Amino acid sequence: MGSEIPAHVAIIMDGNGRWAKRRNMPRTYGHVQGAKTVEKICRDADELGIRYLTLYAFSTENWNRPGGEVEALMELFHKYLGICYKNAMENDMCCRIIGDKTRLSQKLRDSMAKLEGDTADHKGLHLQLAINYGARDEIARMVRHTVEEALNGGLSVNDIDEDYISSHLDTAGIPDPDLLIRTCGEQRISNYLLWQCAYTEFYYTDTAWPDFDRDELVRAINAYQDRDRRYGKV
Ligand code: FPP
Repeated sequence: MGSEIPAHVAIIMDGNGRWAKRRNMPRTYGHVQGAKTVEKICRDADELGIRYLTLYAFSTENWNRPGGEVEALMELFHKYLGICYKNAMENDMCCRIIGDKTRLSQKLRDSMAKLEGDTADHKGLHLQLAINYGARDEIARMVRHTVEEALNGGLSVNDIDEDYISSHLDTAGIPDPDLLIRTCGEQRISNYLLWQCAYTEFYYTDTAWPDFDRDELVRAINAYQDRDRRYGKV
């Protein structure tokens, strides 16, 4: 890490519901505004020189929300994937979905496959959307896969090292995050990228996700750079 722009920024986009409540609006309105922020922040991140952006859109725990809210979020993701496809084609963005897709609708999985397939070779911003993602679930899926490989005789115990694990998680091939931002005041990691955040700097802001903007992103980057100057890692 230098006092440069962090190559990989991960964000826990929190506070859509509270943002909407403060305006006497339904929570789903907060999510719609949150989706607009996603679009803007992708552009800003790219312009600022961030290479990888990983956004927590829906956790494995979020299924416990009221059915109507989950349904609205799934519809919003579907709509957003279309917008994201267009932006990715125009801006050379490479998009990947991390998380367990098996519980998602076929319609959503089809749009994801098209987005991932058609942007795989793009060289611009690498955007990872975490949908039905939980770090413990990701690790459990990796362990199941590893045991299967071992039982089939294709893998020996000594093959399993840190590189093996990193390259069998959903984020395979993507460098670990340099900076993790969480919006709207909470200071928890909430089952996000547990393996990948071993050396990540954390930054928290009280701003709710729909109000998060380029200035906020720059403030987070400045805080990251200040820590580097103060603690000067090698
Ligand atoms: C947290 O707000 C946010 C979510 C659970 C979902 C994140 C979704 C978006 C930002 C919208 C769309 C995203 C994409 C990729 C199109 P919350 O509901 O937990 O807010 P609260 O903590 O104030 O209740």
